[in-house]
Amino acid sequence: MTTTIHVPGDKSISHRALMLGALADGVGTVDNLLRSADVDSTASVLRTLGVRIDVEGSRATVHGLGLGRLAAPASPLDCGNSGTTTRLMAGIVAAHPFAATFVGDASLSRRPMRRVAEPLEAMGARVALDSGDGLPMIVQGASLHSIGWTTRTASAQIKSAILLAALTARVPVTVTEPRLSRDHTERMLRGRGVEVTVDGTTISLGVAQRLPAVPIVVPGDPSGAAFFVALAAMYPAAEVRIPDVCLNPTRAGFIEVVRRMGAPVESQDGSETMGGEPVGTIIARTAPHLRGVTVSGDEIPSMIDEVPILAALAARADGETTVRGAGELRVKESDRIAATVANLRAVGAEAEELDDGLVVRGSQRSLRGRVVTHGDHRLAMAFGVLGSLPGNDIVVDDPGCVAVSYPNFWDDLRRVTS
Ligand code: S3P
Repeated sequence: MTTTIHVPGDKSISHRALMLGALADGVGTVDNLLRSADVDSTASVLRTLGVRIDVEGSRATVHGLGLGRLAAPASPLDCGNSGTTTRLMAGIVAAHPFAATFVGDASLSRRPMRRVAEPLEAMGARVALDSGDGLPMIVQGASLHSIGWTTRTASAQIKSAILLAALTARVPVTVTEPRLSRDHTERMLRGRGVEVTVDGTTISLGVAQRLPAVPIVVPGDPSGAAFFVALAAMYPAAEVRIPDVCLNPTRAGFIEVVRRMGAPVESQDGSETMGGEPVGTIIARTAPHLRGVTVSGDEIPSMIDEVPILAALAARADGETTVRGAGELRVKESDRIAATVANLRAVGAEAEELDDGLVVRGSQRSLRGRVVTHGDHRLAMAFGVLGSLPGNDIVVDDPGCVAVSYPNFWDDLRRVTS
């Protein structure tokens, strides 16, 4: 039987749609906005900076103030659990003539912020970080100047912080990454008439005097879809159809790897686009035979958020799966290398940590036990999928933490498995 799952709007694009809407001249709408705790953090930070945002269902109406016209905040900017909110908003605030203090929950407060502080300081802002790296972070904005910046890590958050700082300050900028990270900011800026050129892994942004308010429809989140692709691959006699998913190649690494593992995954990428992104339908079915694979650092940026669910899939594959070049996972919502491996072992699977990745040896034995998510949504969902397979019995300590990216996850999971 085919189950159709409508995954929520993409998280990365939802954040950016609100931010660019706030910087635009006039009133713009965002449809299929992801309604989740992380995106709510962006909306509330923008409201603290004077932006009116009305949300009804999955439609937001953003009353843009124009480039460089946000208001000085009367209170700290609470980014909750959201790294994207913190880092991208730091870029925008850096180009305003006021100071703002960024705060967040315990997990976010531990995450590295120097990676955005350094380029923003090179552009002329001042940034103070708690204990040299985490939150609270005080960004004192200034009149920024143009830079050419090379990042050490392929990170769309660092790249976007720099691009948004330059956009807001109306200066050109060039960012070079070791590998191309997700390019939603670039696509959305181009869609608003801003000159963006890409040469290999170097992105150059021209100057825009103003940003038009445009209606945007957010495509479905490929990172949310990944859980159901993996579930279909492992579940007996399953077929899951996921329409209107963002098929941006900078997000498509997981689908490629799952196919290499032997899962039949079709993506019918129509000629259609939503919000400047290619969209299509993914159809995933039970894999007749899953085999372990090796994933290298080149592939990681296009599947950085999918490694926990890949590890869950690997626990059911024949042979060994090795992931390398994924050291960034240690500084996500949790240390995803340590937590994924510890939890796989806790339920009886064989796994080992590497400095920059992990090794999982798959089996068909039944997996049972309790997993500790550290409040990390992607761990909760990965082990939720593994636990829903016949014969497995896994208790997720904090199922509610899926609220940051996929509030209906458990309902959707039940729809496939019941
Ligand atoms: C995101 C970029 C990625 C990703 C995160 C969302 C974004 O982080 O892990 O979930 O929206 O730009 P990095 O850019 O730090 O790799």
